[in-house]
Amino acid sequence: MTTVEQLQLDNIAKNDYQIYPLLKQRYSPRIFSDQKLTEKDVNRLFESVRWSASSYNRQPWRFIFAHKGTEGYDKIMECLSEFNQKWAGNAPFLMLAGYKKNTEEGTENFHALHDLGLSLGNMTVQAEYMGIGLHHMAGVDWKKAHEIFNVPEGYHIATAIAAGFYGGNLNDIPEDLREQERAERTRIPQTDFAFEGAWK
Ligand SMILES: Cc1cc2nc3c(=O)[nH]c(=O)nc-3n(C[C@H](O)[C@H](O)[C@H](O)COP(=O)(O)O)c2cc1C
Repeated sequence: MTTVEQLQLDNIAKNDYQIYPLLKQRYSPRIFSDQKLTEKDVNRLFESVRWSASSYNRQPWRFIFAHKGTEGYDKIMECLSEFNQKWAGNAPFLMLAGYKKNTEEGTENFHALHDLGLSLGNMTVQAEYMGIGLHHMAGVDWKKAHEIFNVPEGYHIATAIAAGFYGGNLNDIPEDLREQERAERTRIPQTDFAFEGAWK
């Protein structure tokens, strides 16, 4: 039987070149410790978003967040895909992540999704530094989210995120997901995505 500690060790990136330790140890957990995030923890996460780079400093990111045991949390759960609902309820903290679609001039902000992603990259590293794992989810019904949370015109909910301190119990997820948690993490080689001088 795999323990959570063993799982965490197995999930450490088998990187080919040296990387920052917080990036090396990061992975997307589906089980979490019961430890609640404090208000200060939450503020620290969003502060890392606040200081992210963004195109023209437009800061288009927007979040709805909720702690387990609240109505907001149950509402976010409702917006998740059936697959994500199988495990996301293990997280003490859930978020919906969205962005403002237009610039101040009313034209499409083509880089808003990039900025949201970058801000979440920052939050991921900040979270890791605090012992918190983030699991990003595309499996969210954005139309439902807009409806349930009355998201104003001009904004788009892109993803959801489950967050919690690393830990928990592998038995908290169904067997098929347990297998996925234990599966080897794979990556394409750098030569498949980083091209010097010309597209290859
Ligand atoms: C934008 C985005 C959407 C994702 N959507 C889901 C999802 O809906 N459900 C899920 O279980 N994992 C989801 N993931 C997690 C990925 O499957 C995971 O990051 C990938 O398999 C690599 O594993 P690692 O993060 O543990 O390195 C998503 C990740 C990202 C960045």
